[in-house]
Amino acid sequence: FWSNVEMGPPDPILGVTEAFKRDSNPKKINLGVGAYRSDEGKPFVLESVKKADEMILKEKLDKEYAPISGIAEFCQASAKLAFGDDSNVIKNQTNATVQGISGTGSLRIGAAFLAKWFQGNKTIWLPNPSWGNHTPIMKHAGLDVKAYRYYDSKTIGFDFKGAIEDINNIPENSIILFHACAHNPTGVDPQNDQWNELSSVVKKRNLLVFMDMAYQGFASGNIDQDAYAVRQFVKDNHNILLAQSYAKNMGLYGERVGALSVVCNDKEEVDRVMSQLKIIIRPMYSNPPIGGARIAAKILTNPDLRQLWLKEVKQMADRIITMRKQLVSNLNKAGSQKNWQHITNQIGMFCFTGLNAQQVERLTKEFSIYLTKDGRISMAGITSKNNEYLANAMHECTK
Ligand code: LMR
Repeated sequence: FWSNVEMGPPDPILGVTEAFKRDSNPKKINLGVGAYRSDEGKPFVLESVKKADEMILKEKLDKEYAPISGIAEFCQASAKLAFGDDSNVIKNQTNATVQGISGTGSLRIGAAFLAKWFQGNKTIWLPNPSWGNHTPIMKHAGLDVKAYRYYDSKTIGFDFKGAIEDINNIPENSIILFHACAHNPTGVDPQNDQWNELSSVVKKRNLLVFMDMAYQGFASGNIDQDAYAVRQFVKDNHNILLAQSYAKNMGLYGERVGALSVVCNDKEEVDRVMSQLKIIIRPMYSNPPIGGARIAAKILTNPDLRQLWLKEVKQMADRIITMRKQLVSNLNKAGSQKNWQHITNQIGMFCFTGLNAQQVERLTKEFSIYLTKDGRISMAGITSKNNEYLANAMHECTK
């Protein structure tokens, strides 16, 4: 039957983990996938998650199906976390929010909704570069994909002028995607005043905004600060779509917890949109898993757990910042003459090192350091112990 099936390439991100697992070098480091590690290099289960787990276990809940749209309490708490308690969206209940299978699944539902119902130009404009999975997700749902300038390789920073110029030329009534904070893969975000200007240019072009917020809390260590773009766009009356993930900020990776919100004009519109989101979800996976969403809902709605969680988010963000500083200092110590300031300037889980494909290949072949071909490293995989080894290897490959 399958003689026609071609061998596909490994996934650019998750394939790196597969290669890492095959390597027997005890010094190996996985800086590919964005997954937080403790300073001992171990997967990290948050205390708030453990406590929520215990509380839920004691409640002896049943295992009935969730509604197609997911656990209502989770959806509402998730929307509040993103838009803010005092947002008009929350007060007027103009959000159609469904539970999604983490960020990817939430994006996929949103993309399918746009492909079916968006009345404008069914092209979505992504930042260049963007998360490697964005293009396949959007194409899989039937949208065309184009890119606007975002990253400037000369400054290793945000190309604000280029972005504004390109967005000004996007055909009206198209769709544009922004990473709400902690841009993946570059670690380069617009400043608040730049977000304000982006919002007004987007309004002028009458573009529909799809926000991907996979790292709320990881950019600044503060949940509210990281929601600036989402909240500003909503204040500026953009009826945005928003995909949220709890993989990173609650460490719920394999639990697959996320949400998709569609901001609507009024309650009546919410009902119509909700009905169609459910029609999209039902044939894809029927209804979402309950375990992780119960944990997230518990953390978001129990004041003590929420406080503990906010502290833990800050701790994770702070450890990453410390690793950035140590890496720069170890590179200097190794004798590197290059300017590595971008490592500490960039924010979030990733660092876009500026290493080219050959240098990346050397890091992997000669030092068993695994990262994506674009030179992105997951800062969360660096520890106090492997930091110097990494710095020496990076210096060796960039001399
Ligand atoms: C990443 O970019 O490494 C993460 O978002 C994990 C993934 O699924 O790609």
